[in-house]
Amino acid sequence: MAQNSVADIGVIGLGVMGRNLAANLADHGATVAGYDLDEGRRAAFLATMPAGVVCAGVPELLAALKAPRLVLLMVPAGAAVDALLGSLLPDLRAGDVLIDGGNSHYADTRRRAALAAETGVHFVGLGVSGGEEGARHGPALMAGGTPEGIGRATPLLQAIAARAGDGAPCFARVGPDGAGHFVKMIHNGIEYADMQLIAEGYHLLRHLGGLSYERLAETFAEWNRGELASYLMEITTDILRTSDPETGGPILEVIQDAAGQKGTGHWATTAAMELGMPAPTIAEAVHARCLSALKAERLRAADAFPPPPAAAVPGDLAAAVGDALLCGRIAVYAQGFAVIAAGSARFGWDVDLAAVASVWRGGCIIRARLVDRILDALTRAPDLPNLMFDPDIGALLARGEAGWRRAVGAAVASGQPVPAMASALAYWDGYRSPRLWANMIQAQRDYFGAHGYERTDRPGMVHTQWTP
Ligand code: 6PG
Repeated sequence: MAQNSVADIGVIGLGVMGRNLAANLADHGATVAGYDLDEGRRAAFLATMPAGVVCAGVPELLAALKAPRLVLLMVPAGAAVDALLGSLLPDLRAGDVLIDGGNSHYADTRRRAALAAETGVHFVGLGVSGGEEGARHGPALMAGGTPEGIGRATPLLQAIAARAGDGAPCFARVGPDGAGHFVKMIHNGIEYADMQLIAEGYHLLRHLGGLSYERLAETFAEWNRGELASYLMEITTDILRTSDPETGGPILEVIQDAAGQKGTGHWATTAAMELGMPAPTIAEAVHARCLSALKAERLRAADAFPPPPAAAVPGDLAAAVGDALLCGRIAVYAQGFAVIAAGSARFGWDVDLAAVASVWRGGCIIRARLVDRILDALTRAPDLPNLMFDPDIGALLARGEAGWRRAVGAAVASGQPVPAMASALAYWDGYRSPRLWANMIQAQRDYFGAHGYERTDRPGMVHTQWTP
């Protein structure tokens, strides 16, 4: 039963993430008031958090909070957030802080922050990464909002956040309004692409290299001890070692090869395109999931179009794939950080990229040894136009480039799709090319649409009369 004004924070939405964040907050000394429409969830909240204040409705939750009030929304992104904002705003006062901890679209967050600001309420868009385990024991937190609003929430958010290797909390205010959700969206884009790279690596070694699951697990475990160390590498190793309790065989053999998605990778791709910043590997990862989902069509096409004749498999395929994974990952983070920089410039957010890298060192799905190198790079040169210019990161690319090409080449020759590895390589090759094919594109545009083009030998737009 709610009591008056005793709680430090209210959590609305007691699903997996809300319930676990509430328990994490309580572990750090906060008195948490909780509310969910679902009675069963309210009961579960009270059962796991006897010191919590369970509330039967939103007004009761607001009454249970100390002023200025801190309310964390953990509800599905979209209409539910707008509905709650609409019902909460009339009862909130200037100085209260409303935090949206869901995977909301940054443009929605910008709109909601502006609306809340009309009444002096601080609306904070909080990117939360780390899944259930992270929420319970230490997520990575990317906050967007006013310094005052985030400042008010900082002691609690800092306390519950994951810790990086040096003990720093994986929490930062990355900018105003939608910046936190933008950064989380790009986190997810990178997550999609790194997952796709790893999945391609596994698939190539299994189906082209013929590695057993045991050997695959050993290979990934070995990688996870080196430069490729990451949370996703770690869980991949575990997955490769897992047997299906029903058949006793490798669990991957019974998992359908058609992937779902909730949309943040798509948003990241769209944002990159809207900003005119290339993020092809993130886009390919989204397309790859969409392609995988066309299972029935794929089966039909497999019957209709046999694969190419067997091609030679490089003797060092595993090493080549390892190089492709590291170089691909570098290209993916480079794309992601470039999109964040472009978003920051477009919306005037002044995002501190080093702070983003610092937050991504722990708790989040994309935590990886490479992030330490990225933080070093951005600390040395905060205005680096692209991470690949950093001498240490560039040296990793130089070292892995030949293997990366061999892995992609072997895949292409044998008809194995590696959209992420190949697009990352094309990104790198395009980025380092002094002369690209775009002169032809410009000529074609001018030919059929009189769009004009720039010449190499003098400034200004010109048009050619292509046909007599
Ligand atoms: C995280 C994840 C999480 C995301 C899931 C599912 O950082 O904890 O990014 O926020 O919702 O990974 O995403 P998809 O269903 O789109 O794969």
